[in-house]
Parts: sequence; C-alpha cells; structure tokens
Amino acid sequence: SGDPPKVQREKLFDCEGVQMLGSVVQNMRELQEFEARPDDVLIASYPKAGTTWMIEIADCVRRGGVTEELLSLPSHKRAPFLETFDEFSSGIRDLNSMASPRLVKTHLPIQFIPQSFWDNRCKVIYVARNAKDVLVSYYFFHQMSLDMPEPGRWEEFFDSFLSGRLAWGSWFDHVLGWWDNREKHQVLYVFYEDIKQDPLREVERVARYLDKPMDSSVMADIVAHTSFNKMKDNPMTNYKDVPSFLFNHEISQFMRTGRTGDWKNHFTVAENERFDEEYQRHMAKTSLRFRTQL
Ligand code: A3P
Repeated sequence: SGDPPKVQREKLFDCEGVQMLGSVVQNMRELQEFEARPDDVLIASYPKAGTTWMIEIADCVRRGGVTEELLSLPSHKRAPFLETFDEFSSGIRDLNSMASPRLVKTHLPIQFIPQSFWDNRCKVIYVARNAKDVLVSYYFFHQMSLDMPEPGRWEEFFDSFLSGRLAWGSWFDHVLGWWDNREKHQVLYVFYEDIKQDPLREVERVARYLDKPMDSSVMADIVAHTSFNKMKDNPMTNYKDVPSFLFNHEISQFMRTGRTGDWKNHFTVAENERFDEEYQRHMAKTSLRFRTQL
C-alpha cells in the first residue's frame, strides 16, 4: 500500500496555434501515426459536450441493444481515449490491442485527426453542445479531474474559455472546424440539445448512420439505458471506477447535472452580455446554430 500517487496538474502548450495538454503535444508524432482500421467508429467532441453519452448510445447501437458487455466493461475500456498519455494508461496501446470493431474517443480538433481515419473512410460522429453549458461543465471538470491544468477562479476560467486558452483549444475553432468539414468527411454532426429534446430521434439517426437498423423497442431500451439518471447510477458509465487521486467525485461528480441551461445558475448578467458579444464576433458568419435553453 502506501500513499496514493500524487498527480501533477498538466500544463498547456501551443501546438500549431491550439492550446493542448503537454502530454499530448509531446506525443503528437506518435498520435499522427496512429493506424485506424476501416471499421473503427470515431466519437469526436470538444470536452464536456456529451462524449460519454454519445459513446454509450453508439456502443448500444453497434451491439444491437443493451448487451452484457455494456454492463460489464467501463465506458473508457469500450471506447479508449485516443490521446491519453499518462503514467497509468495509453490510449494508443489500448486501441492497438483491442479487437475490431473499435469505438475510439477523441477531443482533437479536426486538423489533428490522424490521416489514417480519413484514408480508411472511417465513420465519425461529432457531438457538439452549446458554449455556455460547456464552459460551466468544463470548469467543474477542471476542479475534480486532478491532472487537468489549474482552472483558476471562475472569472479567470471564463476569460480563458473566451480566448481559447484551455485544453483542446478554442471551443469556437473546434465546433467550426468540424462543422465546415463535416460533408467532406461524411461526419454525423449531433447536438447535445437535440438528444436531450428527442433522444429516440437521435438514436435513430445514429442507427441509420451506422447502418444498424433496429426495432423501435430496442431503440426505446437504448434511450432508457442512456438517460442521465441511469448513466449517473451505472458504475460502467459514471467514472466512479477511476481512482480518487485522479477524479475526485467529492469535489464534483463526473455526471454532474446533465441539463441544458445550467449556465444560468453560474453566469452573472454582465458576464452573459460579454459572452454574447464575443460569441457574435466568432459566430456571425456561420450557419452553425446552438440552443442554450430548451
Ligand atoms: P454537466 O457537467 O453539465 O452535467 P463529456 O462526456 O463530453 O465529458 O461530457 C460530460 C457532460 O455530459 C456532463 O455535463 C455530464 O453530466 C453530461 N452527460 C453525461 N451523460 C449524460 C446523459 N445521459 N444525459 C445528459 N447529460 C449527460
């Protein structure tokens, strides 16, 4: 036994104009050489957009329903996180030793996706969530995930979000990069708010995209299995198996609120105005639209 390992918070480094974790920048070359397989499905997102939720949906769809493996293996084993490079695990190593078909999780901006995913014409599902809820969720995640960079005070974190000085870079660049290239790469672009509003419709969209037609009763099972309350209580999806020296669930749960519009409990009126101004500056020209309440 002895003392639990003390993890260091990571530092951010610039990588071709994007702020990234030091561990990722250091291993960028190895990452770029990752060998995708044609039947890989990549689940991509900016952090806190609903990645874990989409992984669970896509995994259910691929397996044709809520199977035994889903209930006996944690999410991060069923969909390894591509750019994990720490002393405890390696996403690339886990993926290389995994049997096909694989689900691969990534938060990489589209320009950093290893070329082999495109060469193999892999299916890609991108999940996007409105910036205000992502900001709040990411702030709480920085507190509980003890290897993330120091979040600073709320006001500082708020500034960092707007100026793109957070891990995996600017939310604006991320969602726009994926949006602008979605047709070129046949990416299925899914909104968190749409899944909240009509989960059955979005499960059906995923099933169609993955060529897995299924009975409506199976889709209804998937919707029930992937509801927030179910996933919060499910040890295979709530990340409670991660040691507490890495994820401190007493500070904040990974499955925190699962709501759209929680930002209203955290933004001041002045912050909201400033946010909207900055938002306009970045998003004036795009057809990409988000809903910040339902
Ligand atoms: P909150 O912190 O707002 O609650 P990611 O998986 O990309 O890290 O995103 C985590 C966010 O998705 C958290 O948001 C988490 O609660 C939310 N989430 C996870 N599963 C969900 C589900 N089944 N329904 C709604 N939200 C979910």
